[in-house]
Amino acid sequence: MKNKLLIVDDETKILRSLKFLLEDNFEVYTSENSSEALDIFKRERISLVLLDLRLKEDNGFDLMEKFLKIEPNAIIIIMTAYSTIENSIKAIKSGAYYFITKPIDSDQLILLLNTADEKLKMVQKIHSLKGHVKKDIIGEAPNIKKVTEIIDRVKDTNATILITGESGTGKELIAQKIHTSSNRADEPFVAINCAAMPGNLLESELFGYKKGAFTGAYKDEIGIIRRADRGTLLLDEIGEMDLRLQSKLLRFLQDKEVRHVGDATTHKVDVRVICITNKDLKEEVNIGNFREDLYYRINVINIVAPPLRERIEDLKYLIPYFIEKYNISFNKNIRGITDEAYKILSKYEFKGNIRELENIIQRAVLLNTSDYIDVDSLYISPQEIIDSSHDSTKNYIKIYEGENMKEIEKKVIEFALEKNNQNRKWTADSLGIGVRTLRYKIKEYNL
Ligand SMILES: Nc1ncnc2c1ncn2[C@@H]1O[C@H](COP(=O)(O)OP(=O)(O)OP(=O)(O)O)[C@@H](O)[C@H]1O
Ligand SMILES: [Mg+2]
Repeated sequence: MKNKLLIVDDETKILRSLKFLLEDNFEVYTSENSSEALDIFKRERISLVLLDLRLKEDNGFDLMEKFLKIEPNAIIIIMTAYSTIENSIKAIKSGAYYFITKPIDSDQLILLLNTADEKLKMVQKIHSLKGHVKKDIIGEAPNIKKVTEIIDRVKDTNATILITGESGTGKELIAQKIHTSSNRADEPFVAINCAAMPGNLLESELFGYKKGAFTGAYKDEIGIIRRADRGTLLLDEIGEMDLRLQSKLLRFLQDKEVRHVGDATTHKVDVRVICITNKDLKEEVNIGNFREDLYYRINVINIVAPPLRERIEDLKYLIPYFIEKYNISFNKNIRGITDEAYKILSKYEFKGNIRELENIIQRAVLLNTSDYIDVDSLYISPQEIIDSSHDSTKNYIKIYEGENMKEIEKKVIEFALEKNNQNRKWTADSLGIGVRTLRYKIKEYNL
């Protein structure tokens, strides 16, 4: 798609010749005065402007400022016959992208506009991607749809949420999504990893401390829980918290009051708490590593992040999403993935789930030399591919002791249909029976 370009100059002749020069590459709009130019700029949502600094009744600088106020990402290229150093510096300082002097060298102009155009497309991409990352959990599989449905239902309640699931399944992303879609979205989202530090340090980080409460407490610190006031507190890897701190956390969850280490006063806090774990907490309770009462207190709503292998059909959304993401980071232009490479990924086990997929695509985008990601740039060895015993690739059927003739016949017909792509004529031929007999059997066995 061509980007829109607005040219503002008070000389009709120049407008006409520039339009002629540039309309193959841009959707060109022209204007001779600033109020009309401003109208076009707003109406057409222009983000690329070629502007003459000396307009008849008004000043090009003022107009430029107005453009940039409306669209801070707009790229404005100044043209002027007065090629003074002061003017160029002033223009760049006020936000112009570049400065070009009249008479205009058309090669130079085209080169400049093409670079600007690339930059614009990049910015637009980043913006659309940012929107994506913030709002969207990518995927259409029923089990991930269920997750987004739960999020929708519980986002505005204050209920504590426990997110469980294997490593790399998007637990943290789910937590962020709960926060950003909730009515607390404008308030802080504070996350802490309970596995990252020893118990007493974690306690003082969470609950804050009074100056002098312990060696190293040089000043008062209100702690992470109070920092999350009115917002959301995410306790990642909650399963790693030691038992003593678990009881302090339980007390906090019950009365929503924080007491700093080394201080008797309490502070009321309003936070929504989300906990994450990839441990089996119930099992941790059984072996005495996790308090049962705390377990019930945090497990009001449980969201399970499904492993990628149970939503493998989402590869068709996830792969393009990550290709786009890393095209931008690495300034590459990979357009997609070959069918063979896609097939390999769809048979891959993904022990590291979406994080592993993301790493594979990231590496492939970086290393791939053609337009489409191919098998070689995946760096997956054949041993790592699940030997899928899909029906269509199976060359035998199993017969078990005790099965009767009808059951066996049903299996044989099912197998032959599968092998012949459900084509009845071919199936009948391969079994050495007539099509009518086959039709009768299909009905009888409800196939
Ligand atoms: N459904 C999804 N759509 C898009 N990106 C996703 C999705 N799920 C996960 N990701 C991405 O995969 C990566 C891993 O996700 P995240 O960190 O949320 O996983 P996690 O379950 O917290 O992993 P761990 O248990 O290892 O901490 C992140 O870059 C995240 O943005
Ligand atoms: Mg995580």
